[in-house]
Amino acid sequence: MTFDRSIKIAPSILSADFANFGKECEAIEAEGCDWVHVDVMDGHFVPNITFGPATCAAIRPHIKGVMDVHLMIEPVDPYIDAFAKAGADVITAHVEASTHIHRTLQAIRGAGAKAGIALNPATPASSIEYLLDMIDLVCVMTVNPGFGGQKFIHSQVDKVAQLRAMIGDRPIHIEIDGGVTPETAPLVAGAGADVLVAGSAVFKGGSVNNTAPYGNNIRAIRTAAEAVAS
Ligand code: DX5
Ligand code: ZN
Repeated sequence: MTFDRSIKIAPSILSADFANFGKECEAIEAEGCDWVHVDVMDGHFVPNITFGPATCAAIRPHIKGVMDVHLMIEPVDPYIDAFAKAGADVITAHVEASTHIHRTLQAIRGAGAKAGIALNPATPASSIEYLLDMIDLVCVMTVNPGFGGQKFIHSQVDKVAQLRAMIGDRPIHIEIDGGVTPETAPLVAGAGADVLVAGSAVFKGGSVNNTAPYGNNIRAIRTAAEAVAS
């Protein structure tokens, strides 16, 4: 993985056809996405359950680019090696899910993956002040984690701007997760985000047998974001 701040669109397969993950991953890459965002939920840290490392390993051969694994699980540490072995390029843990998040981030890098940290909407930017040299990505949740298709929380745009200032020249991606559409993408891209996760806004109107809408949806988000990205 090389680092740059160009806009990257990362469809969340939470909105894909769960019976066809392999084909869905191939379809969104063929339709022009940059990363594939994989939402792991445990029914404990968040009120929903998706899947675990075995599913990540099964879809890995169907993804040519970056597999971006977002862990909404608590605890995190016992599962890091399994997700790294499953082929995750980025493993993101929530700051709220680990008492010793510093140790968690060390373990993620130690397992050979890029380390991401996610912040729930109520968690301030300052929570990562002493972690900046240990992370490769910060994920700003613009919905409460657990479900796709929720409404974008506008107060988070200011948090993105604060994080962008804190990060300075460090090679740290700012990722936005939740409620990203062609309407909200410019708000966060203008504030300094470079990775835009989108579930419902990418998969809407399409299917594994009709993938062209995925491409149209990806281009609509990218065009709106690139118009304002610095
Ligand atoms: C929410 C997940 C998101 C979600 C985004 O808990 O982490 O990745 O799938 O879905 P949309 O884009 O539909 O808000
Ligand atoms: Zn996510």
